[in-house]
Amino acid sequence: MQISYHASSRTFHLQNDSISYIIKILPNDQLGQLYFGKAIRDRENFDHLIEMHYRPMTAYVFEGNKEFSLDHIKQEYPSYGTTDFKHPALEIVQPNGSRITNFTYVSHSISAGKPALKDLPATYTEEEHEAQTLTFHLRDELIGTELDLHYTLFAAAPVIARSACFTNKGNLDLHLTTAMSLSLDLPDSNYEFVHFSGAWSRERHQKVRRLEAGIQSVESTRGTSSHNHNPFVILKRPETTEFSGEAIGFSLVYSGNFLAQAEVDTWGTTRLTMGINPFQFDWKLEPGESFQTPEAVMVYSTDGLNAMSQTFHKLYQKRLARGYWRDRPRPILINNWEATYFDFTEDKLVSIAQAAKNDGVELFVLDDGWFGARCGECAGLGDWFANKDRLPNGIAGLAERIDALGMKFGLWFEPEMVNKDSDLFRAHPDWRICTPSRRASHGRNQFVLDYSRQEVVDAIYDRMATLLREAKISYIKWDMNRCITEAFSASLPADRQGELFHRYILGVYQLYDRLTTDFPHVLFESCASGGGRFDPGLLYYAPQGWASDDSDAIERLKIQYGTSMCYPISSIGAHVSVSPNHQVYRTTPIETRANVAHFGTFGYELDLNKLTEEEREKVRQQIQFMKDYREVIQFGTFYRLISPFENTNFAAWMVVSEDKKTALVGYYKILNEVNGPYHRVKLCGLDPDAAYCVDGTSSHYGDELMNLGLITTDGAAGEQSPNYRKSIDFDSRIFVLHAE
Ligand code: DGJ
Repeated sequence: MQISYHASSRTFHLQNDSISYIIKILPNDQLGQLYFGKAIRDRENFDHLIEMHYRPMTAYVFEGNKEFSLDHIKQEYPSYGTTDFKHPALEIVQPNGSRITNFTYVSHSISAGKPALKDLPATYTEEEHEAQTLTFHLRDELIGTELDLHYTLFAAAPVIARSACFTNKGNLDLHLTTAMSLSLDLPDSNYEFVHFSGAWSRERHQKVRRLEAGIQSVESTRGTSSHNHNPFVILKRPETTEFSGEAIGFSLVYSGNFLAQAEVDTWGTTRLTMGINPFQFDWKLEPGESFQTPEAVMVYSTDGLNAMSQTFHKLYQKRLARGYWRDRPRPILINNWEATYFDFTEDKLVSIAQAAKNDGVELFVLDDGWFGARCGECAGLGDWFANKDRLPNGIAGLAERIDALGMKFGLWFEPEMVNKDSDLFRAHPDWRICTPSRRASHGRNQFVLDYSRQEVVDAIYDRMATLLREAKISYIKWDMNRCITEAFSASLPADRQGELFHRYILGVYQLYDRLTTDFPHVLFESCASGGGRFDPGLLYYAPQGWASDDSDAIERLKIQYGTSMCYPISSIGAHVSVSPNHQVYRTTPIETRANVAHFGTFGYELDLNKLTEEEREKVRQQIQFMKDYREVIQFGTFYRLISPFENTNFAAWMVVSEDKKTALVGYYKILNEVNGPYHRVKLCGLDPDAAYCVDGTSSHYGDELMNLGLITTDGAAGEQSPNYRKSIDFDSRIFVLHAE
């Protein structure tokens, strides 16, 4: 890995074994983008990569030089209105109303490792040799503003992480109205734009559309990264598959309003922009103040989407997630939400926990309803004191009883919310987000606390920290169940109201940071009505997240498949719930519910006391299976094999251990077939020369399994022999492969 500077051509080459990223200081002293892709040889001068041809109706920078137009020249961090007419990476409104800027090169520095981002989550290095960081120091002389652009190249992965930092060194008040984390100009538009969109209980469904002239984008304006769109997009070639072809993944380490946009211009070039959504963003930068953007991560692959995802998985698992739980297999949990909703007593909870303990579960999680006057959705949020009617011995007393069973205890919070019917709201009505003299809209009968205010964050920290000190709590589920409306903060002046959404997220990060620092052994699971804030920003604090409120196994195939495009299996909260399912009322076999949930953090969301003895026996086997294989599942290499978005009846995925000696293949069939075709799935990532014993019976070489495939034909597909296993609707199998 090396970041080289060629002074004679004023060119920078960020290069490791797999990628090259080339930047040049242009004749107008702005930064030009020359190349991002597969590694190419270094040379002193790459000027031949710059295409400059005069076209009528373009404006040009220098008198008499019609060719030098920013309309054509690919740039690193472009601004609008000085011959470039595309959407910019930055916009600064100045006291005279002008929005024109000119940030030019002053100097650069190259350092080992990767500096942390102030107050923001970001990828990191543990050893300096893992990465190098190039920082450009740019300046707009007229407004006395400095702009630092950071590029971190990871040594052993096709990854570049980028961010920008603005500092007002002048004496004017400025308003930053666009401050993107990255802008990347690509020389053509022969791409598909892949994004992960949906709704509550239908998160991260993969959508693919061809780039065309004009703008395509996904965004959030809701205050969270949202169920509707994820801050992750891919540009891939039309021919790129899971297994081959070029793809670039763009991921924003951020949990608030974001924009990911591809703009294709008249000449068929593409600008990919990603960062805080400029919509309603307005950050006042007074003299001496700085603004740091979140980090955006780019991953390049020539080997298809699986390879891209594997790079993200490893990076986010090892160098974004942190702390005690980062490398540890996750506890198998039982959560009482779908078992009881708000209807529980201490004894009922203990009986659910006891049954789970008997079957091998390790952690009992008490969900919503344990505090204040919380008997339903309309009261109690904000009053983080145990409801003594339900829990006469408090949280500490319940935690003791769970501990006495030999289980860990976990607790649900929704720290960012308040109900109108709560002591917190009665004491601090101005702590909610709402606009003066306007109606405050409701969402799940609750309001959002103003996390841009330090006293609000402090008050919630004090309550949570007190409980964590008083009771034996090993896990926290941090929920967030509505979007922000009537965005306005009582504590911000008029000309800073455009800062609220970002300040809110900074407050959330601060609380996460304080709690994870002060209670390093507590496992945090993020949640926002399921996967409404499943993003890399929260992964930095909470190494796992509840992927969706839809716990139906068949629905989960798409949700978990889509989620796996960017996020590691160790981060995907997945549970076995009751059948018929509570979201889609579907009846599925308990085996299939587990066979899907196994490819996640794994747990149960039901009352095991209500299952038959036969089902309980299966549960015991499922838990033992997870204990045996969770290390491989959560930390092995994950491959998607059959996409439920492309195949209406089948899905498959697999994991392979690092030493390639163990592999698990999850194979799922939605509706049964009568006399259907024979089926095989080609596996990936095995040792071609190793003989693998499949399910303890037949033996196959790795090259056979990867080229001829694993035979998955079942008994109902043309075979009626009693020797074959009979299949049913919503059937599934996990094949276990061991190298002999
Ligand atoms: C939404 C979460 O996604 C559920 O798992 C559950 O915790 C409920 N909130 C509780 O209100």
